[in-house]
Amino acid sequence: MKRIGMLTSGGDCQALNAAMRGVVKGLSKNTDELEVYGFYEGYKGLIYGNYRLLTPADFSGILTKGGTILGTSRQPFKRMRIPDENGLDKVEAMKKNYKKLRLDCLVILGGNGTQKTANLLREEGLNVIHLPKTIDNDIYGTDITFGFQSAIDVATSAIDCIHTTAASHNRVFIVEVMGHKVGWLTLYAGVAGGADIILLPEIPYDIDKVAEAVRQRSKEGKGFTILAVAEGAISKEDAKLTKKEYKEKLKKSPYPSVSYEVAARLEEKTGCEVRVTVPGHTQRGGSPCPYDRVLCTRLGAAAAELILQNKYGYMVAMINGNTKPVPLEEVAGKLKTVEPDCQMIHEAKLIGISFGD
Ligand code: F6P
Repeated sequence: MKRIGMLTSGGDCQALNAAMRGVVKGLSKNTDELEVYGFYEGYKGLIYGNYRLLTPADFSGILTKGGTILGTSRQPFKRMRIPDENGLDKVEAMKKNYKKLRLDCLVILGGNGTQKTANLLREEGLNVIHLPKTIDNDIYGTDITFGFQSAIDVATSAIDCIHTTAASHNRVFIVEVMGHKVGWLTLYAGVAGGADIILLPEIPYDIDKVAEAVRQRSKEGKGFTILAVAEGAISKEDAKLTKKEYKEKLKKSPYPSVSYEVAARLEEKTGCEVRVTVPGHTQRGGSPCPYDRVLCTRLGAAAAELILQNKYGYMVAMINGNTKPVPLEEVAGKLKTVEPDCQMIHEAKLIGISFGD
């Protein structure tokens, strides 16, 4: 008999349902009795006891379904130790609900913040298994996170669509790709979409270099230029500011996002017409791509295996094509960023992509 609690927390992505299905299928085929409790809206459901006993029917037909059947919400890790507006101790409330249901384990699907709280619950004595979800691919200790490949597909097709219209009008186009802290998604979608300039949070840009790359394309007879710009792209000047100063600057900025500022500065410097396209949350929407369906099925099955062996306190990672349990204490709180001198950046530069540095 196994009693499992499950929740999805933080920003959603395409393959959350596929991952939950993998876990439940793996368990139900190998245990006589299984009870799965789904907590609604992430940690909120665990804190406030908002859950439902799920049935096999809940996990049927969801491999291809985007979003999450449990719903999700952002519950910042840094506020977990702070009582809610009614004075409720959130950590104690989560422990209480876990114990009340006599759970063997909690399966927690989410990104970095979610993982930190999962580790906190582990430290508090709960059995947890974490599955690495995020379109940002920034979870340390796994080669890949689920949602990433599906988001690359969406962001790439946005760039593809912009390509044809940019070429018709001889325009400079910016496609803003998700990722405030890390640029994996922008890098992959940018390369896949044939972007000419890619701006990442990890490589602060010099607007003069970006303008020069646009002019260079004109000199080569190319009438249009495509930029893939991460939400968190930052100029060299801004990178010198403290976090607080930069936040203040953004608050006062007349631009809705960094891309619009890049566009305005580029127009000023090059005289070109610059348009901005923001695919935004479409990058997290729709069906998971086949790669993510396979990844989640494998991660889910591997999580089930750990639970069957009563092995807890791990993130199930994908490393060199193999699933691997990685102790949460080794990875929680660490970020996997794009190294500016990595091979992929080197190769992208080799074929002429500018990073504005
Ligand atoms: O962490 C995933 C992510 O999609 C980021 O790429 C993006 O910056 C952020 O979430 C958007 O958050 P929200 O859905 O809260 O607007």
